[in-house]
Amino acid sequence: MKKILVTGALGQIGTELVLKLRKEYGVDNVVASDRNRHDSPVFDEGFFEDLDVLDANRISEITNKYKVDTVIHLAAMLSATGESNPQALWSVNMTGLYNMLEVARENKLAVFTPSSIAAFGPSTPKILTPQDTIQRPTTIYGVSKVAGELLCDYYFNKFGVDTRGVRYPGLISNGAMPGGGTTDYAVHIYYEALKNKKYTSYIAKGTKMDMMYMPDALDAIIQLIEADPSKLIHRNAFNITAMSFDPEGLKESIQKYIPEFQLEYDVDPVRQKIADSWPDSLDDSAARQEWNWNPKYDLDRMTQDMLETLGKKLK
Ligand code: NAD
Ligand code: SER
Repeated sequence: MKKILVTGALGQIGTELVLKLRKEYGVDNVVASDRNRHDSPVFDEGFFEDLDVLDANRISEITNKYKVDTVIHLAAMLSATGESNPQALWSVNMTGLYNMLEVARENKLAVFTPSSIAAFGPSTPKILTPQDTIQRPTTIYGVSKVAGELLCDYYFNKFGVDTRGVRYPGLISNGAMPGGGTTDYAVHIYYEALKNKKYTSYIAKGTKMDMMYMPDALDAIIQLIEADPSKLIHRNAFNITAMSFDPEGLKESIQKYIPEFQLEYDVDPVRQKIADSWPDSLDDSAARQEWNWNPKYDLDRMTQDMLETLGKKLK
């Protein structure tokens, strides 16, 4: 059984991932960690350690204390907050990842860390973006993601560290709120649909981006860390997607369940520019071939589940 450390465990992905890992691997085999403590279901049971990933000694201390063999490294800054503080993003996303890979090299740990659709840029083919293609992103977040993909490849090829990862699209969930990304509108819209029956989108009509519901995103991590390494050709940056829509497509899906729902627009130029530089739809055939990636949720199934689950939570 793996002994897993999750960094950034109080974020959008980590909060739900830790609960799922504890169910699948056992409470005593999962150590959650983050830089800042705040109210979270992660504290309901199991181990938690304060960990700033900029502190390499502390990473070693924790991995040794719990005899960790696998790290799921989620500590990061996302695209929109990154543009307002590029220096801080570089430090967390690059120094944090470098520290983690060094600890992994010294202690023979496996490392899973997510890349993103942000690793692509305006010169990347936009439709069915291939697995291996042009990557010239224009955000500091995207630059850190491409560099991270390459650094993980390097640690595998040079030092034999078992690095793995996916390029996530925008993730939609009903646990922790998203942490400052460009795709966050696709989460906020469900909260506002239930509370006020209307939403003002900062992303323009017609802007398509890949998206995925959190249960599929969590399955992807577990499937990939458990995948047979002899089948993995790409390892660190698998394109994965479940759906692609623009705000109007999302509105129409919500209107199937809340017919009076209204969508308005007040476009934010910063986040719109970022969204315009990303793909419309990814080709995820390498993930399907190499480790049987196969998402369960399409747009309407996700909408139904989001509205049901959030409806109960917001009562
Ligand atoms: P998030 O912003 O919700 O959570 C990140 C967590 O990292 C936060 O809890 C924060 O406190 C923590 N953190 C920040 N700096 C830290 C530091 N120095 N030390 C320790 N912890 C620190 O992010 P998320 O959405 O959960 O994303 C996790 C990973 O997945 C990131 O690498 C992100 O780029 C990637 N990703 C996310 C999405 C998405 O839509 N959520 C899409 C693509 C890729
Ligand atoms: N959801 C993320 C963001 O918008 C994509 O990596 O930043």
